[in-house]
Amino acid sequence: MPYPSPGDQADDAMISRAADTLRAGRVVAFPTETVYGLGASALDESAVSLVFALKGRPASNPLIVHVHDTHMARGVCRSWPESAARLAERFWPGPLTLVLPRAAIVPDLVTSGGDTVAIRIPDHPTALKLIARFGAPIVGPSANRSGMVSPTTAEHVRQAFGRDDRVMILDGGPCRRGIESTVVWLADASPRILRPGFVQAHAISEALDQPLAELGPAAPDQPEGAAHASPGLLARHYAPNARAILINPGTDPAPHIHPGIPAERVALLASPPLVDAFQRSLGSRLIHTETMPADASAYAHALYAALRRADDAAPDLILIERPARTDGIWAAIHDRLKRATSAE
Ligand code: TXA
Ligand code: MG
Repeated sequence: MPYPSPGDQADDAMISRAADTLRAGRVVAFPTETVYGLGASALDESAVSLVFALKGRPASNPLIVHVHDTHMARGVCRSWPESAARLAERFWPGPLTLVLPRAAIVPDLVTSGGDTVAIRIPDHPTALKLIARFGAPIVGPSANRSGMVSPTTAEHVRQAFGRDDRVMILDGGPCRRGIESTVVWLADASPRILRPGFVQAHAISEALDQPLAELGPAAPDQPEGAAHASPGLLARHYAPNARAILINPGTDPAPHIHPGIPAERVALLASPPLVDAFQRSLGSRLIHTETMPADASAYAHALYAALRRADDAAPDLILIERPARTDGIWAAIHDRLKRATSAE
């Protein structure tokens, strides 16, 4: 195997090879604090098109450009408003993506032809070393096939791309945060959140000293056919293969298992009391359980790996207990759960 085995950390020689891979127009999957990204030179249109092809991603869904520092960030946008300066100062490196007016050097493919570009500085030493060594910005959509659950370990990335010799995988261990960055629109005078994440609305609003606008309809600069201001907001996203249903806390599985829904092989993600109760009532039909943490950060960190393990057990139904709390990071968790369980 030419690439690191599980648990290996990327060393200097590996980073060098990864930067050469990017220079050759190929793809490097890299760890960030949120999820693994599928990296390619952001200024090389053919490398970017390889990323779209590998993911099976519709061209209407633009990519996030990952930069090493604010100097590099300013190189890919046309203007650098006070709002960007404030949020960059307060939250970068970190799980926050800023959408800004795009500079002409950014290929159309990156922005889906739109007039804005999404940018962030990831908070992970391997990602930062890679971008520094490469010396230019890299795109980094989550390293999963389009619409599937995002990867939070190098093993998850290997499952999708490990046999493809156009993809080098850097192993940086499990991602600390576990869900994708907050995306905030700064391209006009009404900043708003397009995708919730660890960096929360109140903290952004406080740093800007300005309230955030409600999420509106499609931004005027979005290309024809893009129905949402941020296409990541499409209903079904981050989804496992098996049908997944959100259930309210309660210890009786009967209401969730109707005739007509196959439920001979059930997987469950829930808190300890619900896991115990379902084990008693479903018996051998409960083929897989994931006991989910009560703390929001721990829950976010665990979620995608738990969904993948549940899916790997080949259930015909995945039941997920709806977390009772909705404040803080829970809002981002509910957003991802809603998408994972959307039937659309
Ligand atoms: O945490 C993250 O953001 C991870 C890591 C690898 O950095 N990346 C990630 O990328 O989640 P991706 O491609 O899976 O999600 C990018 C999101 C999508 O919802 C996309 O529609 C939105 O950012 N986006 C990208 N460019 C945009 C733009 N110009 N305007 C509005 N939304 C944009
Ligand atoms: Mg994604």
